[in-house]
Amino acid sequence: MRRFYYIATMGCQMNEYDSDCLGQQLMNYGFAATDNHEDADLIIINTCTVRAKAQQKAFSLIGRMMGIKKRRPDVILGVMGCIAQQEGSSLLRKFPDIDLVLGTREIGNIPQLLDRVMRNEKVMATDLSIKPIPRERHDGYFRNSIKTYISIMEGCNNFCSYCIVPYVRGREVSRSPKEIMEEARSLISQGIKEITLLGQNVNSYRSTEEEDVDFPQLLKMLSGLDGLNRIRFITSHPKDLSDELIGCFKELPVLCPHIHLPFQSGSNRILRMMNRGYSREQYIGLTAKLRNIRPDFAITSDVMVGFPGESDNDFQMTIDLIKKIEFDNLFSFKYSDRKGTFSENMDKKVDEHEKGHRLSILQSIQKEITLKKNIEHVGKEEEILVEGESKKGVQLTGRNETNIIVNFYSDIKLIGSLVKVYIKRAFINSLQGTVIKSL
Ligand code: 5AD
Ligand code: SF4
Repeated sequence: MRRFYYIATMGCQMNEYDSDCLGQQLMNYGFAATDNHEDADLIIINTCTVRAKAQQKAFSLIGRMMGIKKRRPDVILGVMGCIAQQEGSSLLRKFPDIDLVLGTREIGNIPQLLDRVMRNEKVMATDLSIKPIPRERHDGYFRNSIKTYISIMEGCNNFCSYCIVPYVRGREVSRSPKEIMEEARSLISQGIKEITLLGQNVNSYRSTEEEDVDFPQLLKMLSGLDGLNRIRFITSHPKDLSDELIGCFKELPVLCPHIHLPFQSGSNRILRMMNRGYSREQYIGLTAKLRNIRPDFAITSDVMVGFPGESDNDFQMTIDLIKKIEFDNLFSFKYSDRKGTFSENMDKKVDEHEKGHRLSILQSIQKEITLKKNIEHVGKEEEILVEGESKKGVQLTGRNETNIIVNFYSDIKLIGSLVKVYIKRAFINSLQGTVIKSL
């Protein structure tokens, strides 16, 4: 009898990548995918704990999934990702119906772990000291997909004072260029046109396994691959953004002119307390270098409000930086305490109400900037990689080089190809245009 797996993925792109890897290995193991958890014999929840809200959402989903086991005792339940790594055995105590707790580095071990689960063992696999175990691929998994991710490094050595990532993803480990190139070639042979390289701190990539290869060198190697139209990467740390890497944007036509470069705060005092390793002046300098390459270079960022001790003046410095730089888009968060981080024990915590107030001021300022930036695209001819039908299904949808969604009416035959689109209208989250020609 056919067995089915269902994976619920929460959180970041790294989790999406991990879920894909797990899915491929489950297919090799004999499972088929289903998108309805009611049909699944194996349910896995891939969790995120970077902010308190993400953690609450994950726990509530785990709680709901536990109900299924009451109705269908044979179903296998697993929790993976950052909460699995962080909570370990305490998850099994809280939710005794869980069969498998799978940490962030042990996904490659899934066949052996499942063998044990099948023998009715409760399995916990959360060793962080190991190098991530190579994962098997399943040919055909990505066929008819247009774009996907490749993780090139994992973990983080930076220990920003608010951040849980170093505790749940371990220290930095870079994959070998050989492995990355093989994965890229296999994806391209299945029709992938755009690859986003992933890492918690992607620009500190460095492999010394076969030869010494750093991030700019890896980009140059990948950009030579036939059939690959676009390369992107996330997430970059400002302190590791070298001139050589900035130069790659000039040199490599397949590298999209967009960077996601979290700044977190515009106040030097707060940046020091966050242990970020750069000042606001240095950050502004980097963005100037990037916009020097081309004035429409897109810069997006992450910022948080209400870090312990953030005064009204510190907050105004953040607002000032946002107005100066004019980010194309901004992901903004209220600071939340994470278990075991340095800032958890800092004093002068900002009141929740005040955090909410600051966040709404910041978001309304950014909304205007994003709309203004999007309007700057109107009247231009832009290259779009057509990804599929739009959510409502009437138009086609894709993204321009700077990663903005562009919708237009055209023939579904264009899905998977690059087209030139004339941008007619701008909205807060997307652009609208008409196709001029196929590229
Ligand atoms: N509180 C609020 N936001 C956080 N982030 C990371 N840790 C925290 C925290 N403790 C935000 C940062 C980071 C993004 C992924 O999540 O802005 O860049
Ligand atoms: Fe967290 Fe800082 Fe590492 Fe980013 S660089 S994952 S914010 S510790």
